[in-house]
Amino acid sequence: MAPTGGIIERYRQFLPVSDRTPLVAMGEGNTPLVLSKSIGPELGARAVYFKLEGCNPTGSFKDRGMAMAIAKALEKGARRIICASTGNTSASAAAYGARYDLRCIVLVPAGAGDVAVGKLAQAMAYGARVIAVKGSFDAALRLVREASERLEMELVNSVNPNRIEGQKTGAFEIVDDLGDAPDMLCIPVGNAGNITAYWKGFKEYWEIAKARSLPKMMGFQAEGSAPIVRGEPVETPTTIASAIRIGNPASWQPALKARDESRGRIDAVTDEEIIGAYLRLARSEGVFCEPASAASVAGLMKLPSLGVSLEGKTIVCIITGNGLKDPSTAERRARVDFEFVEPSLDRVEALLGGQASRIR
Ligand code: F0G
Repeated sequence: MAPTGGIIERYRQFLPVSDRTPLVAMGEGNTPLVLSKSIGPELGARAVYFKLEGCNPTGSFKDRGMAMAIAKALEKGARRIICASTGNTSASAAAYGARYDLRCIVLVPAGAGDVAVGKLAQAMAYGARVIAVKGSFDAALRLVREASERLEMELVNSVNPNRIEGQKTGAFEIVDDLGDAPDMLCIPVGNAGNITAYWKGFKEYWEIAKARSLPKMMGFQAEGSAPIVRGEPVETPTTIASAIRIGNPASWQPALKARDESRGRIDAVTDEEIIGAYLRLARSEGVFCEPASAASVAGLMKLPSLGVSLEGKTIVCIITGNGLKDPSTAERRARVDFEFVEPSLDRVEALLGGQASRIR
């Protein structure tokens, strides 16, 4: 038993693991499934749960897939790993690279605000080589796909099937926790690896009767970065949710398959809706996530207006990353005026004795 736990050990019988595969682990997976106390009841659902993937070691769901990808890279003797990233993949690759002595190279889009500061700080702290590409995430991904072949480096983006294998364990955990699949899964969609992975996981559990049902897969893109919803690539994607600012998702076709096989949908949510859900999650549920993660909840809250009934439904929203990843958005969008006070109890009492906090 590995003292650090992790998804490979817990789900090894469902993963491409042999005796030669190192047990890469630093506590990824086994994330909390938290019952909504405000949003779910308001929507009339039977139960809405938030799966807090920000509780993974580097603060996002990427660690599940990265553990598996790194294990397979080590198994085949790789020395260097490379990825393109809007931030979280790079933070995760950099962390596992540091722990397992793999040189990590990350290519990130160079524009201001393209990568949230927390993610960049992580990649740098873990000692990755960070290269800023003067272009979009999509351009960076094109580059690393070619560079990884020419330079014999292990590509650890979700086009690497081992990433999908690791990430499907999120679906296993939901079924293990609930005793069956939920009626719906709400999930943000960027490069579309995660929706692909969750659908694979649910199907695998269903095939061996660990789940009696399959969920409808409800994916949500940001309106300014919604190629799948529009049906064509977006040349210059825009959205406050930089993690999903992607114009040409690598797993486009598998995402369509997940949508269609599950009789789900992939829709767009506006930046206003994303920020609304982001603040609502923090203020009424105590869940602080990054903007991209809030797209899943913004989408859920929009479903009734799209004619989708939530009545009696059990729904899981994947909260993909921790709010601390992107402190600038919180500073800008959640700002309340500071109140200053002299260091005197009387003054504090004068301030707080009457009306309660002004935050709400
Ligand atoms: N949520 C967060 C917090 C993300 O970082 C990402 C993707 C997604 C959702 C979307 O997942 O790409 O599998 O559809 N981040 C990638 C990155 C692109 O580079 O960190 P997806």
